[in-house]
Amino acid sequence: MRPVRWPTGFCIEQLEKHHKRSAFRSDVEAVDEWLKKSARQAQKKRLSITRVLIKEPDTIVGYYTLAMGQVNFDELPHEIARKLPATLLPLVTLAWLGVDKNYQGQGFGERLLAQALADCHQTGQIMPFVAVLLECATISAKTFYQRYDFEELPGHPMKLMIPWKLIDSMMTG
Ligand SMILES: CC(C)(COP(=O)(O)OP(=O)(O)OC[C@H]1O[C@@H](n2cnc3c(N)ncnc32)[C@H](O)[C@@H]1OP(=O)(O)O)[C@@H](O)C(=O)NCCC(=O)NCCS
Repeated sequence: MRPVRWPTGFCIEQLEKHHKRSAFRSDVEAVDEWLKKSARQAQKKRLSITRVLIKEPDTIVGYYTLAMGQVNFDELPHEIARKLPATLLPLVTLAWLGVDKNYQGQGFGERLLAQALADCHQTGQIMPFVAVLLECATISAKTFYQRYDFEELPGHPMKLMIPWKLIDSMMTG
């Protein structure tokens, strides 16, 4: 995966108080509400970090939220779990991702996902984890993520994961 390039006038920033969250509409209420009501609080408490894609001067085009997490080894697909210790394992959660409806269908969702995985890859150089996991808010979101090699967690059709090895080969291959 090549480094993410943003069009002129767009940039990624960590969510700050001055960002205008109230105008953001992805059309999935939970995705909008998280950004408006919870993302800053969670960040202050060091539970997650949200990065926003800004179109200058201050429009939020999209965002994603990353957090650390754990998964029991037996929740992972067998071919991944079989080489790992039978215990709780570290992972990164892609907790939220959304693009404002005015900017959907222009490649921003794909680029935000690539940026989120690039952040995970960078983190993984010094803080190891076995996979990135996410829970799909809708079937439509699931279809989107499955385009990018995310696979289902056995018995959890709305939970998807991508193993570290695949992220590493995407970033370095
Ligand atoms: C899902 C979402 C992030 C996609 O963002 P986007 O900017 O519209 O997507 P892109 O323009 O980058 O699309 C990239 C590719 O995925 C495809 N795609 C986009 N949304 C898709 C969907 N829901 N299902 C299947 N494919 C999809 C596009 O057609 C495009 O393919 P192409 O390059 O072959 O044309 C966006 O629609 C969104 O924010 N939805 C509401 C919130 C949400 O569901 N978030 C995810 C769960 S937390």
